[in-house]
Amino acid sequence: MNELSILQPDDWHLHLRDGSALGAVVGASGAQFARAIVMPNLKAPVVTVAQALAYRERILAALPAGSRFEPLMTLYLTETTVPAEVRAARASAFVHAVKLYPAGATTHSEAGVGDWRRVRATLAAMQEVDLPLLVHGEVTERDVDVFDREEAFIERVLVPLRGEFPELRVVFEHVTTRQAVDYVREAPGRIAATITPQHLLYNRNAIFSGGLRPHWYCLPVLKREEHRLALVAAATSGNPRFFLGTDSAPHAARLKEHAAACAGCYTAPHALELYACAFETAGALARLEGFASLYGPDFYGLARNRGRVLLRRAPWQIPATLPFGAEGIVPLAAGETLDWKFVGPTP
Ligand code: DOR
Ligand code: ZN
Repeated sequence: MNELSILQPDDWHLHLRDGSALGAVVGASGAQFARAIVMPNLKAPVVTVAQALAYRERILAALPAGSRFEPLMTLYLTETTVPAEVRAARASAFVHAVKLYPAGATTHSEAGVGDWRRVRATLAAMQEVDLPLLVHGEVTERDVDVFDREEAFIERVLVPLRGEFPELRVVFEHVTTRQAVDYVREAPGRIAATITPQHLLYNRNAIFSGGLRPHWYCLPVLKREEHRLALVAAATSGNPRFFLGTDSAPHAARLKEHAAACAGCYTAPHALELYACAFETAGALARLEGFASLYGPDFYGLARNRGRVLLRRAPWQIPATLPFGAEGIVPLAAGETLDWKFVGPTP
């Protein structure tokens, strides 16, 4: 197969940042995806519907002329988020979910939730109005090994939280382990998971091969090969609980190549190509469309897109660096060759 046409896909987990960084990255997502669930972890987090509206307008203003990319906004859950904000979000046409960052788990998570039991009233309102909860699924207790934080989150947070709110729609974001995949596959109720390209393509050796490679560092961190294989099996299984979310998380090269490197892989410019390579290696290119274009909108209760996009087998080299405001940014797998190239809308 040398060409692949799929229904126009969406990205169900994306970091777009703000200011000049936003201007530098948003066009890349808009070129490949019709819509994206936009993460709210700005330096000053997006905690109100009014802030989400203002951020949405900045995103739309930063798009290249003619782009019809639709940002699907989220709110950042804090211990002071009130149920009324949840109801206002549901009543808005543009807020589609609320994101739970355990405080201290990742970039700009300081304002997140220390203990989910303190946000019960807000979770109850979300369940009542059916606004999905998106979780960064890692515990933050420092005695838990960094490679075990996702597994611990399932037992310590996700199971009890979902036990108390069994009707709440939940997306377990960027799953990285066999345990998370097994949980999502087998758990009762309305649960789904996003999977990133880096977790499908690489195991943790990538961070350490030939030196410490910060551009392969993201959170949750890459895991062992057995986990990567479980993720590939889930993504390519045709199970609608697993769908595309790049977690493209741009940081300036200067802050990645740093003594305390920022977490995040920048994959927006070549996201579909990375996924196509992962699916082809698994012999499952025919399953890419469901994962990329069908199961996400179905879970969120949104209409599927109408147009189609084309990928072509045409090896090309990922650039070493790209402009990022006044700085540079290094995309994931910079300098490597990918077999598939995104062409654009199917003629
Ligand atoms: O690697 C990551 N980068 N993981 C996250 O959870 C946040 C993200 C970011 O915002 O940079
Ligand atoms: Zn993320």
